Amino acid sequence: MDKIIRVAIDGPSGAGKSTIAKAVAKKLGIDYIDTGAMYRAVGYKTLSCGVDPKDRQALKDMLDSTVIDFSGGNIILDGEIINDKIRTPRISKKASECSALAEVREKLVQLQRGMGQEKSVIMDGRDIGSNVLTDAEYKFFMTASAEERAKRRYEELAEKGQDITYEQVLEDIKKRDHSDMTRELNPLRKAEDAIELDTTGMSIEDVTNYILKEIEK
Ligand code: DC
Repeated sequence: MDKIIRVAIDGPSGAGKSTIAKAVAKKLGIDYIDTGAMYRAVGYKTLSCGVDPKDRQALKDMLDSTVIDFSGGNIILDGEIINDKIRTPRISKKASECSALAEVREKLVQLQRGMGQEKSVIMDGRDIGSNVLTDAEYKFFMTASAEERAKRRYEELAEKGQDITYEQVLEDIKKRDHSDMTRELNPLRKAEDAIELDTTGMSIEDVTNYILKEIEK
């Protein structure tokens, strides 16, 4: 592909954004950037360094010495691959808390804009189409019912051997939806020019093909 294209995929947690974005990236031969993983990396670091995000000075100092990067499909925090460490309910909660803070958003949004500047990318998150890459060539807003999203997330966690019930996952999802949508800074919101896609009952293949068709149009 000669021309640079930026694809933004936003939506609530568990809507299937990352699975789809990965598949589309592979088909198009472009980079995939999981911005949720970046918020998770920050949440993970506050826990491992014992930093209380409410202590804004400590948070700022921590962020000043934090390096987050993607390489070969991995997320790297200060030189360490952390893929498997950031997908736990505890980190989800911490990531959501950190994502509401201005210091965190400022740093991560700046990094994300840089990543989408020189090469074609597909980026997923909550505010990509509405804030990070407002001039992205393609924008999608993926949704699915809370029950379907909880089912998908529960199956993913159970497969990894995590001790959690479907009801707990559903409650977590509803809580996170609420805080992601009602927070003051860059809340989860569909960009006006984004294509809305309800994936309830759709297969991964169906959604991937739909997006590829839109891009090829
Ligand atoms: O997509 P995820 O569940 O891995 O995201 C983790 C948290 O980060 C979630 O609570 C929402 C937040 N987030 C955000 O505020 N902005 C983004 N662009 C991506 C994620």
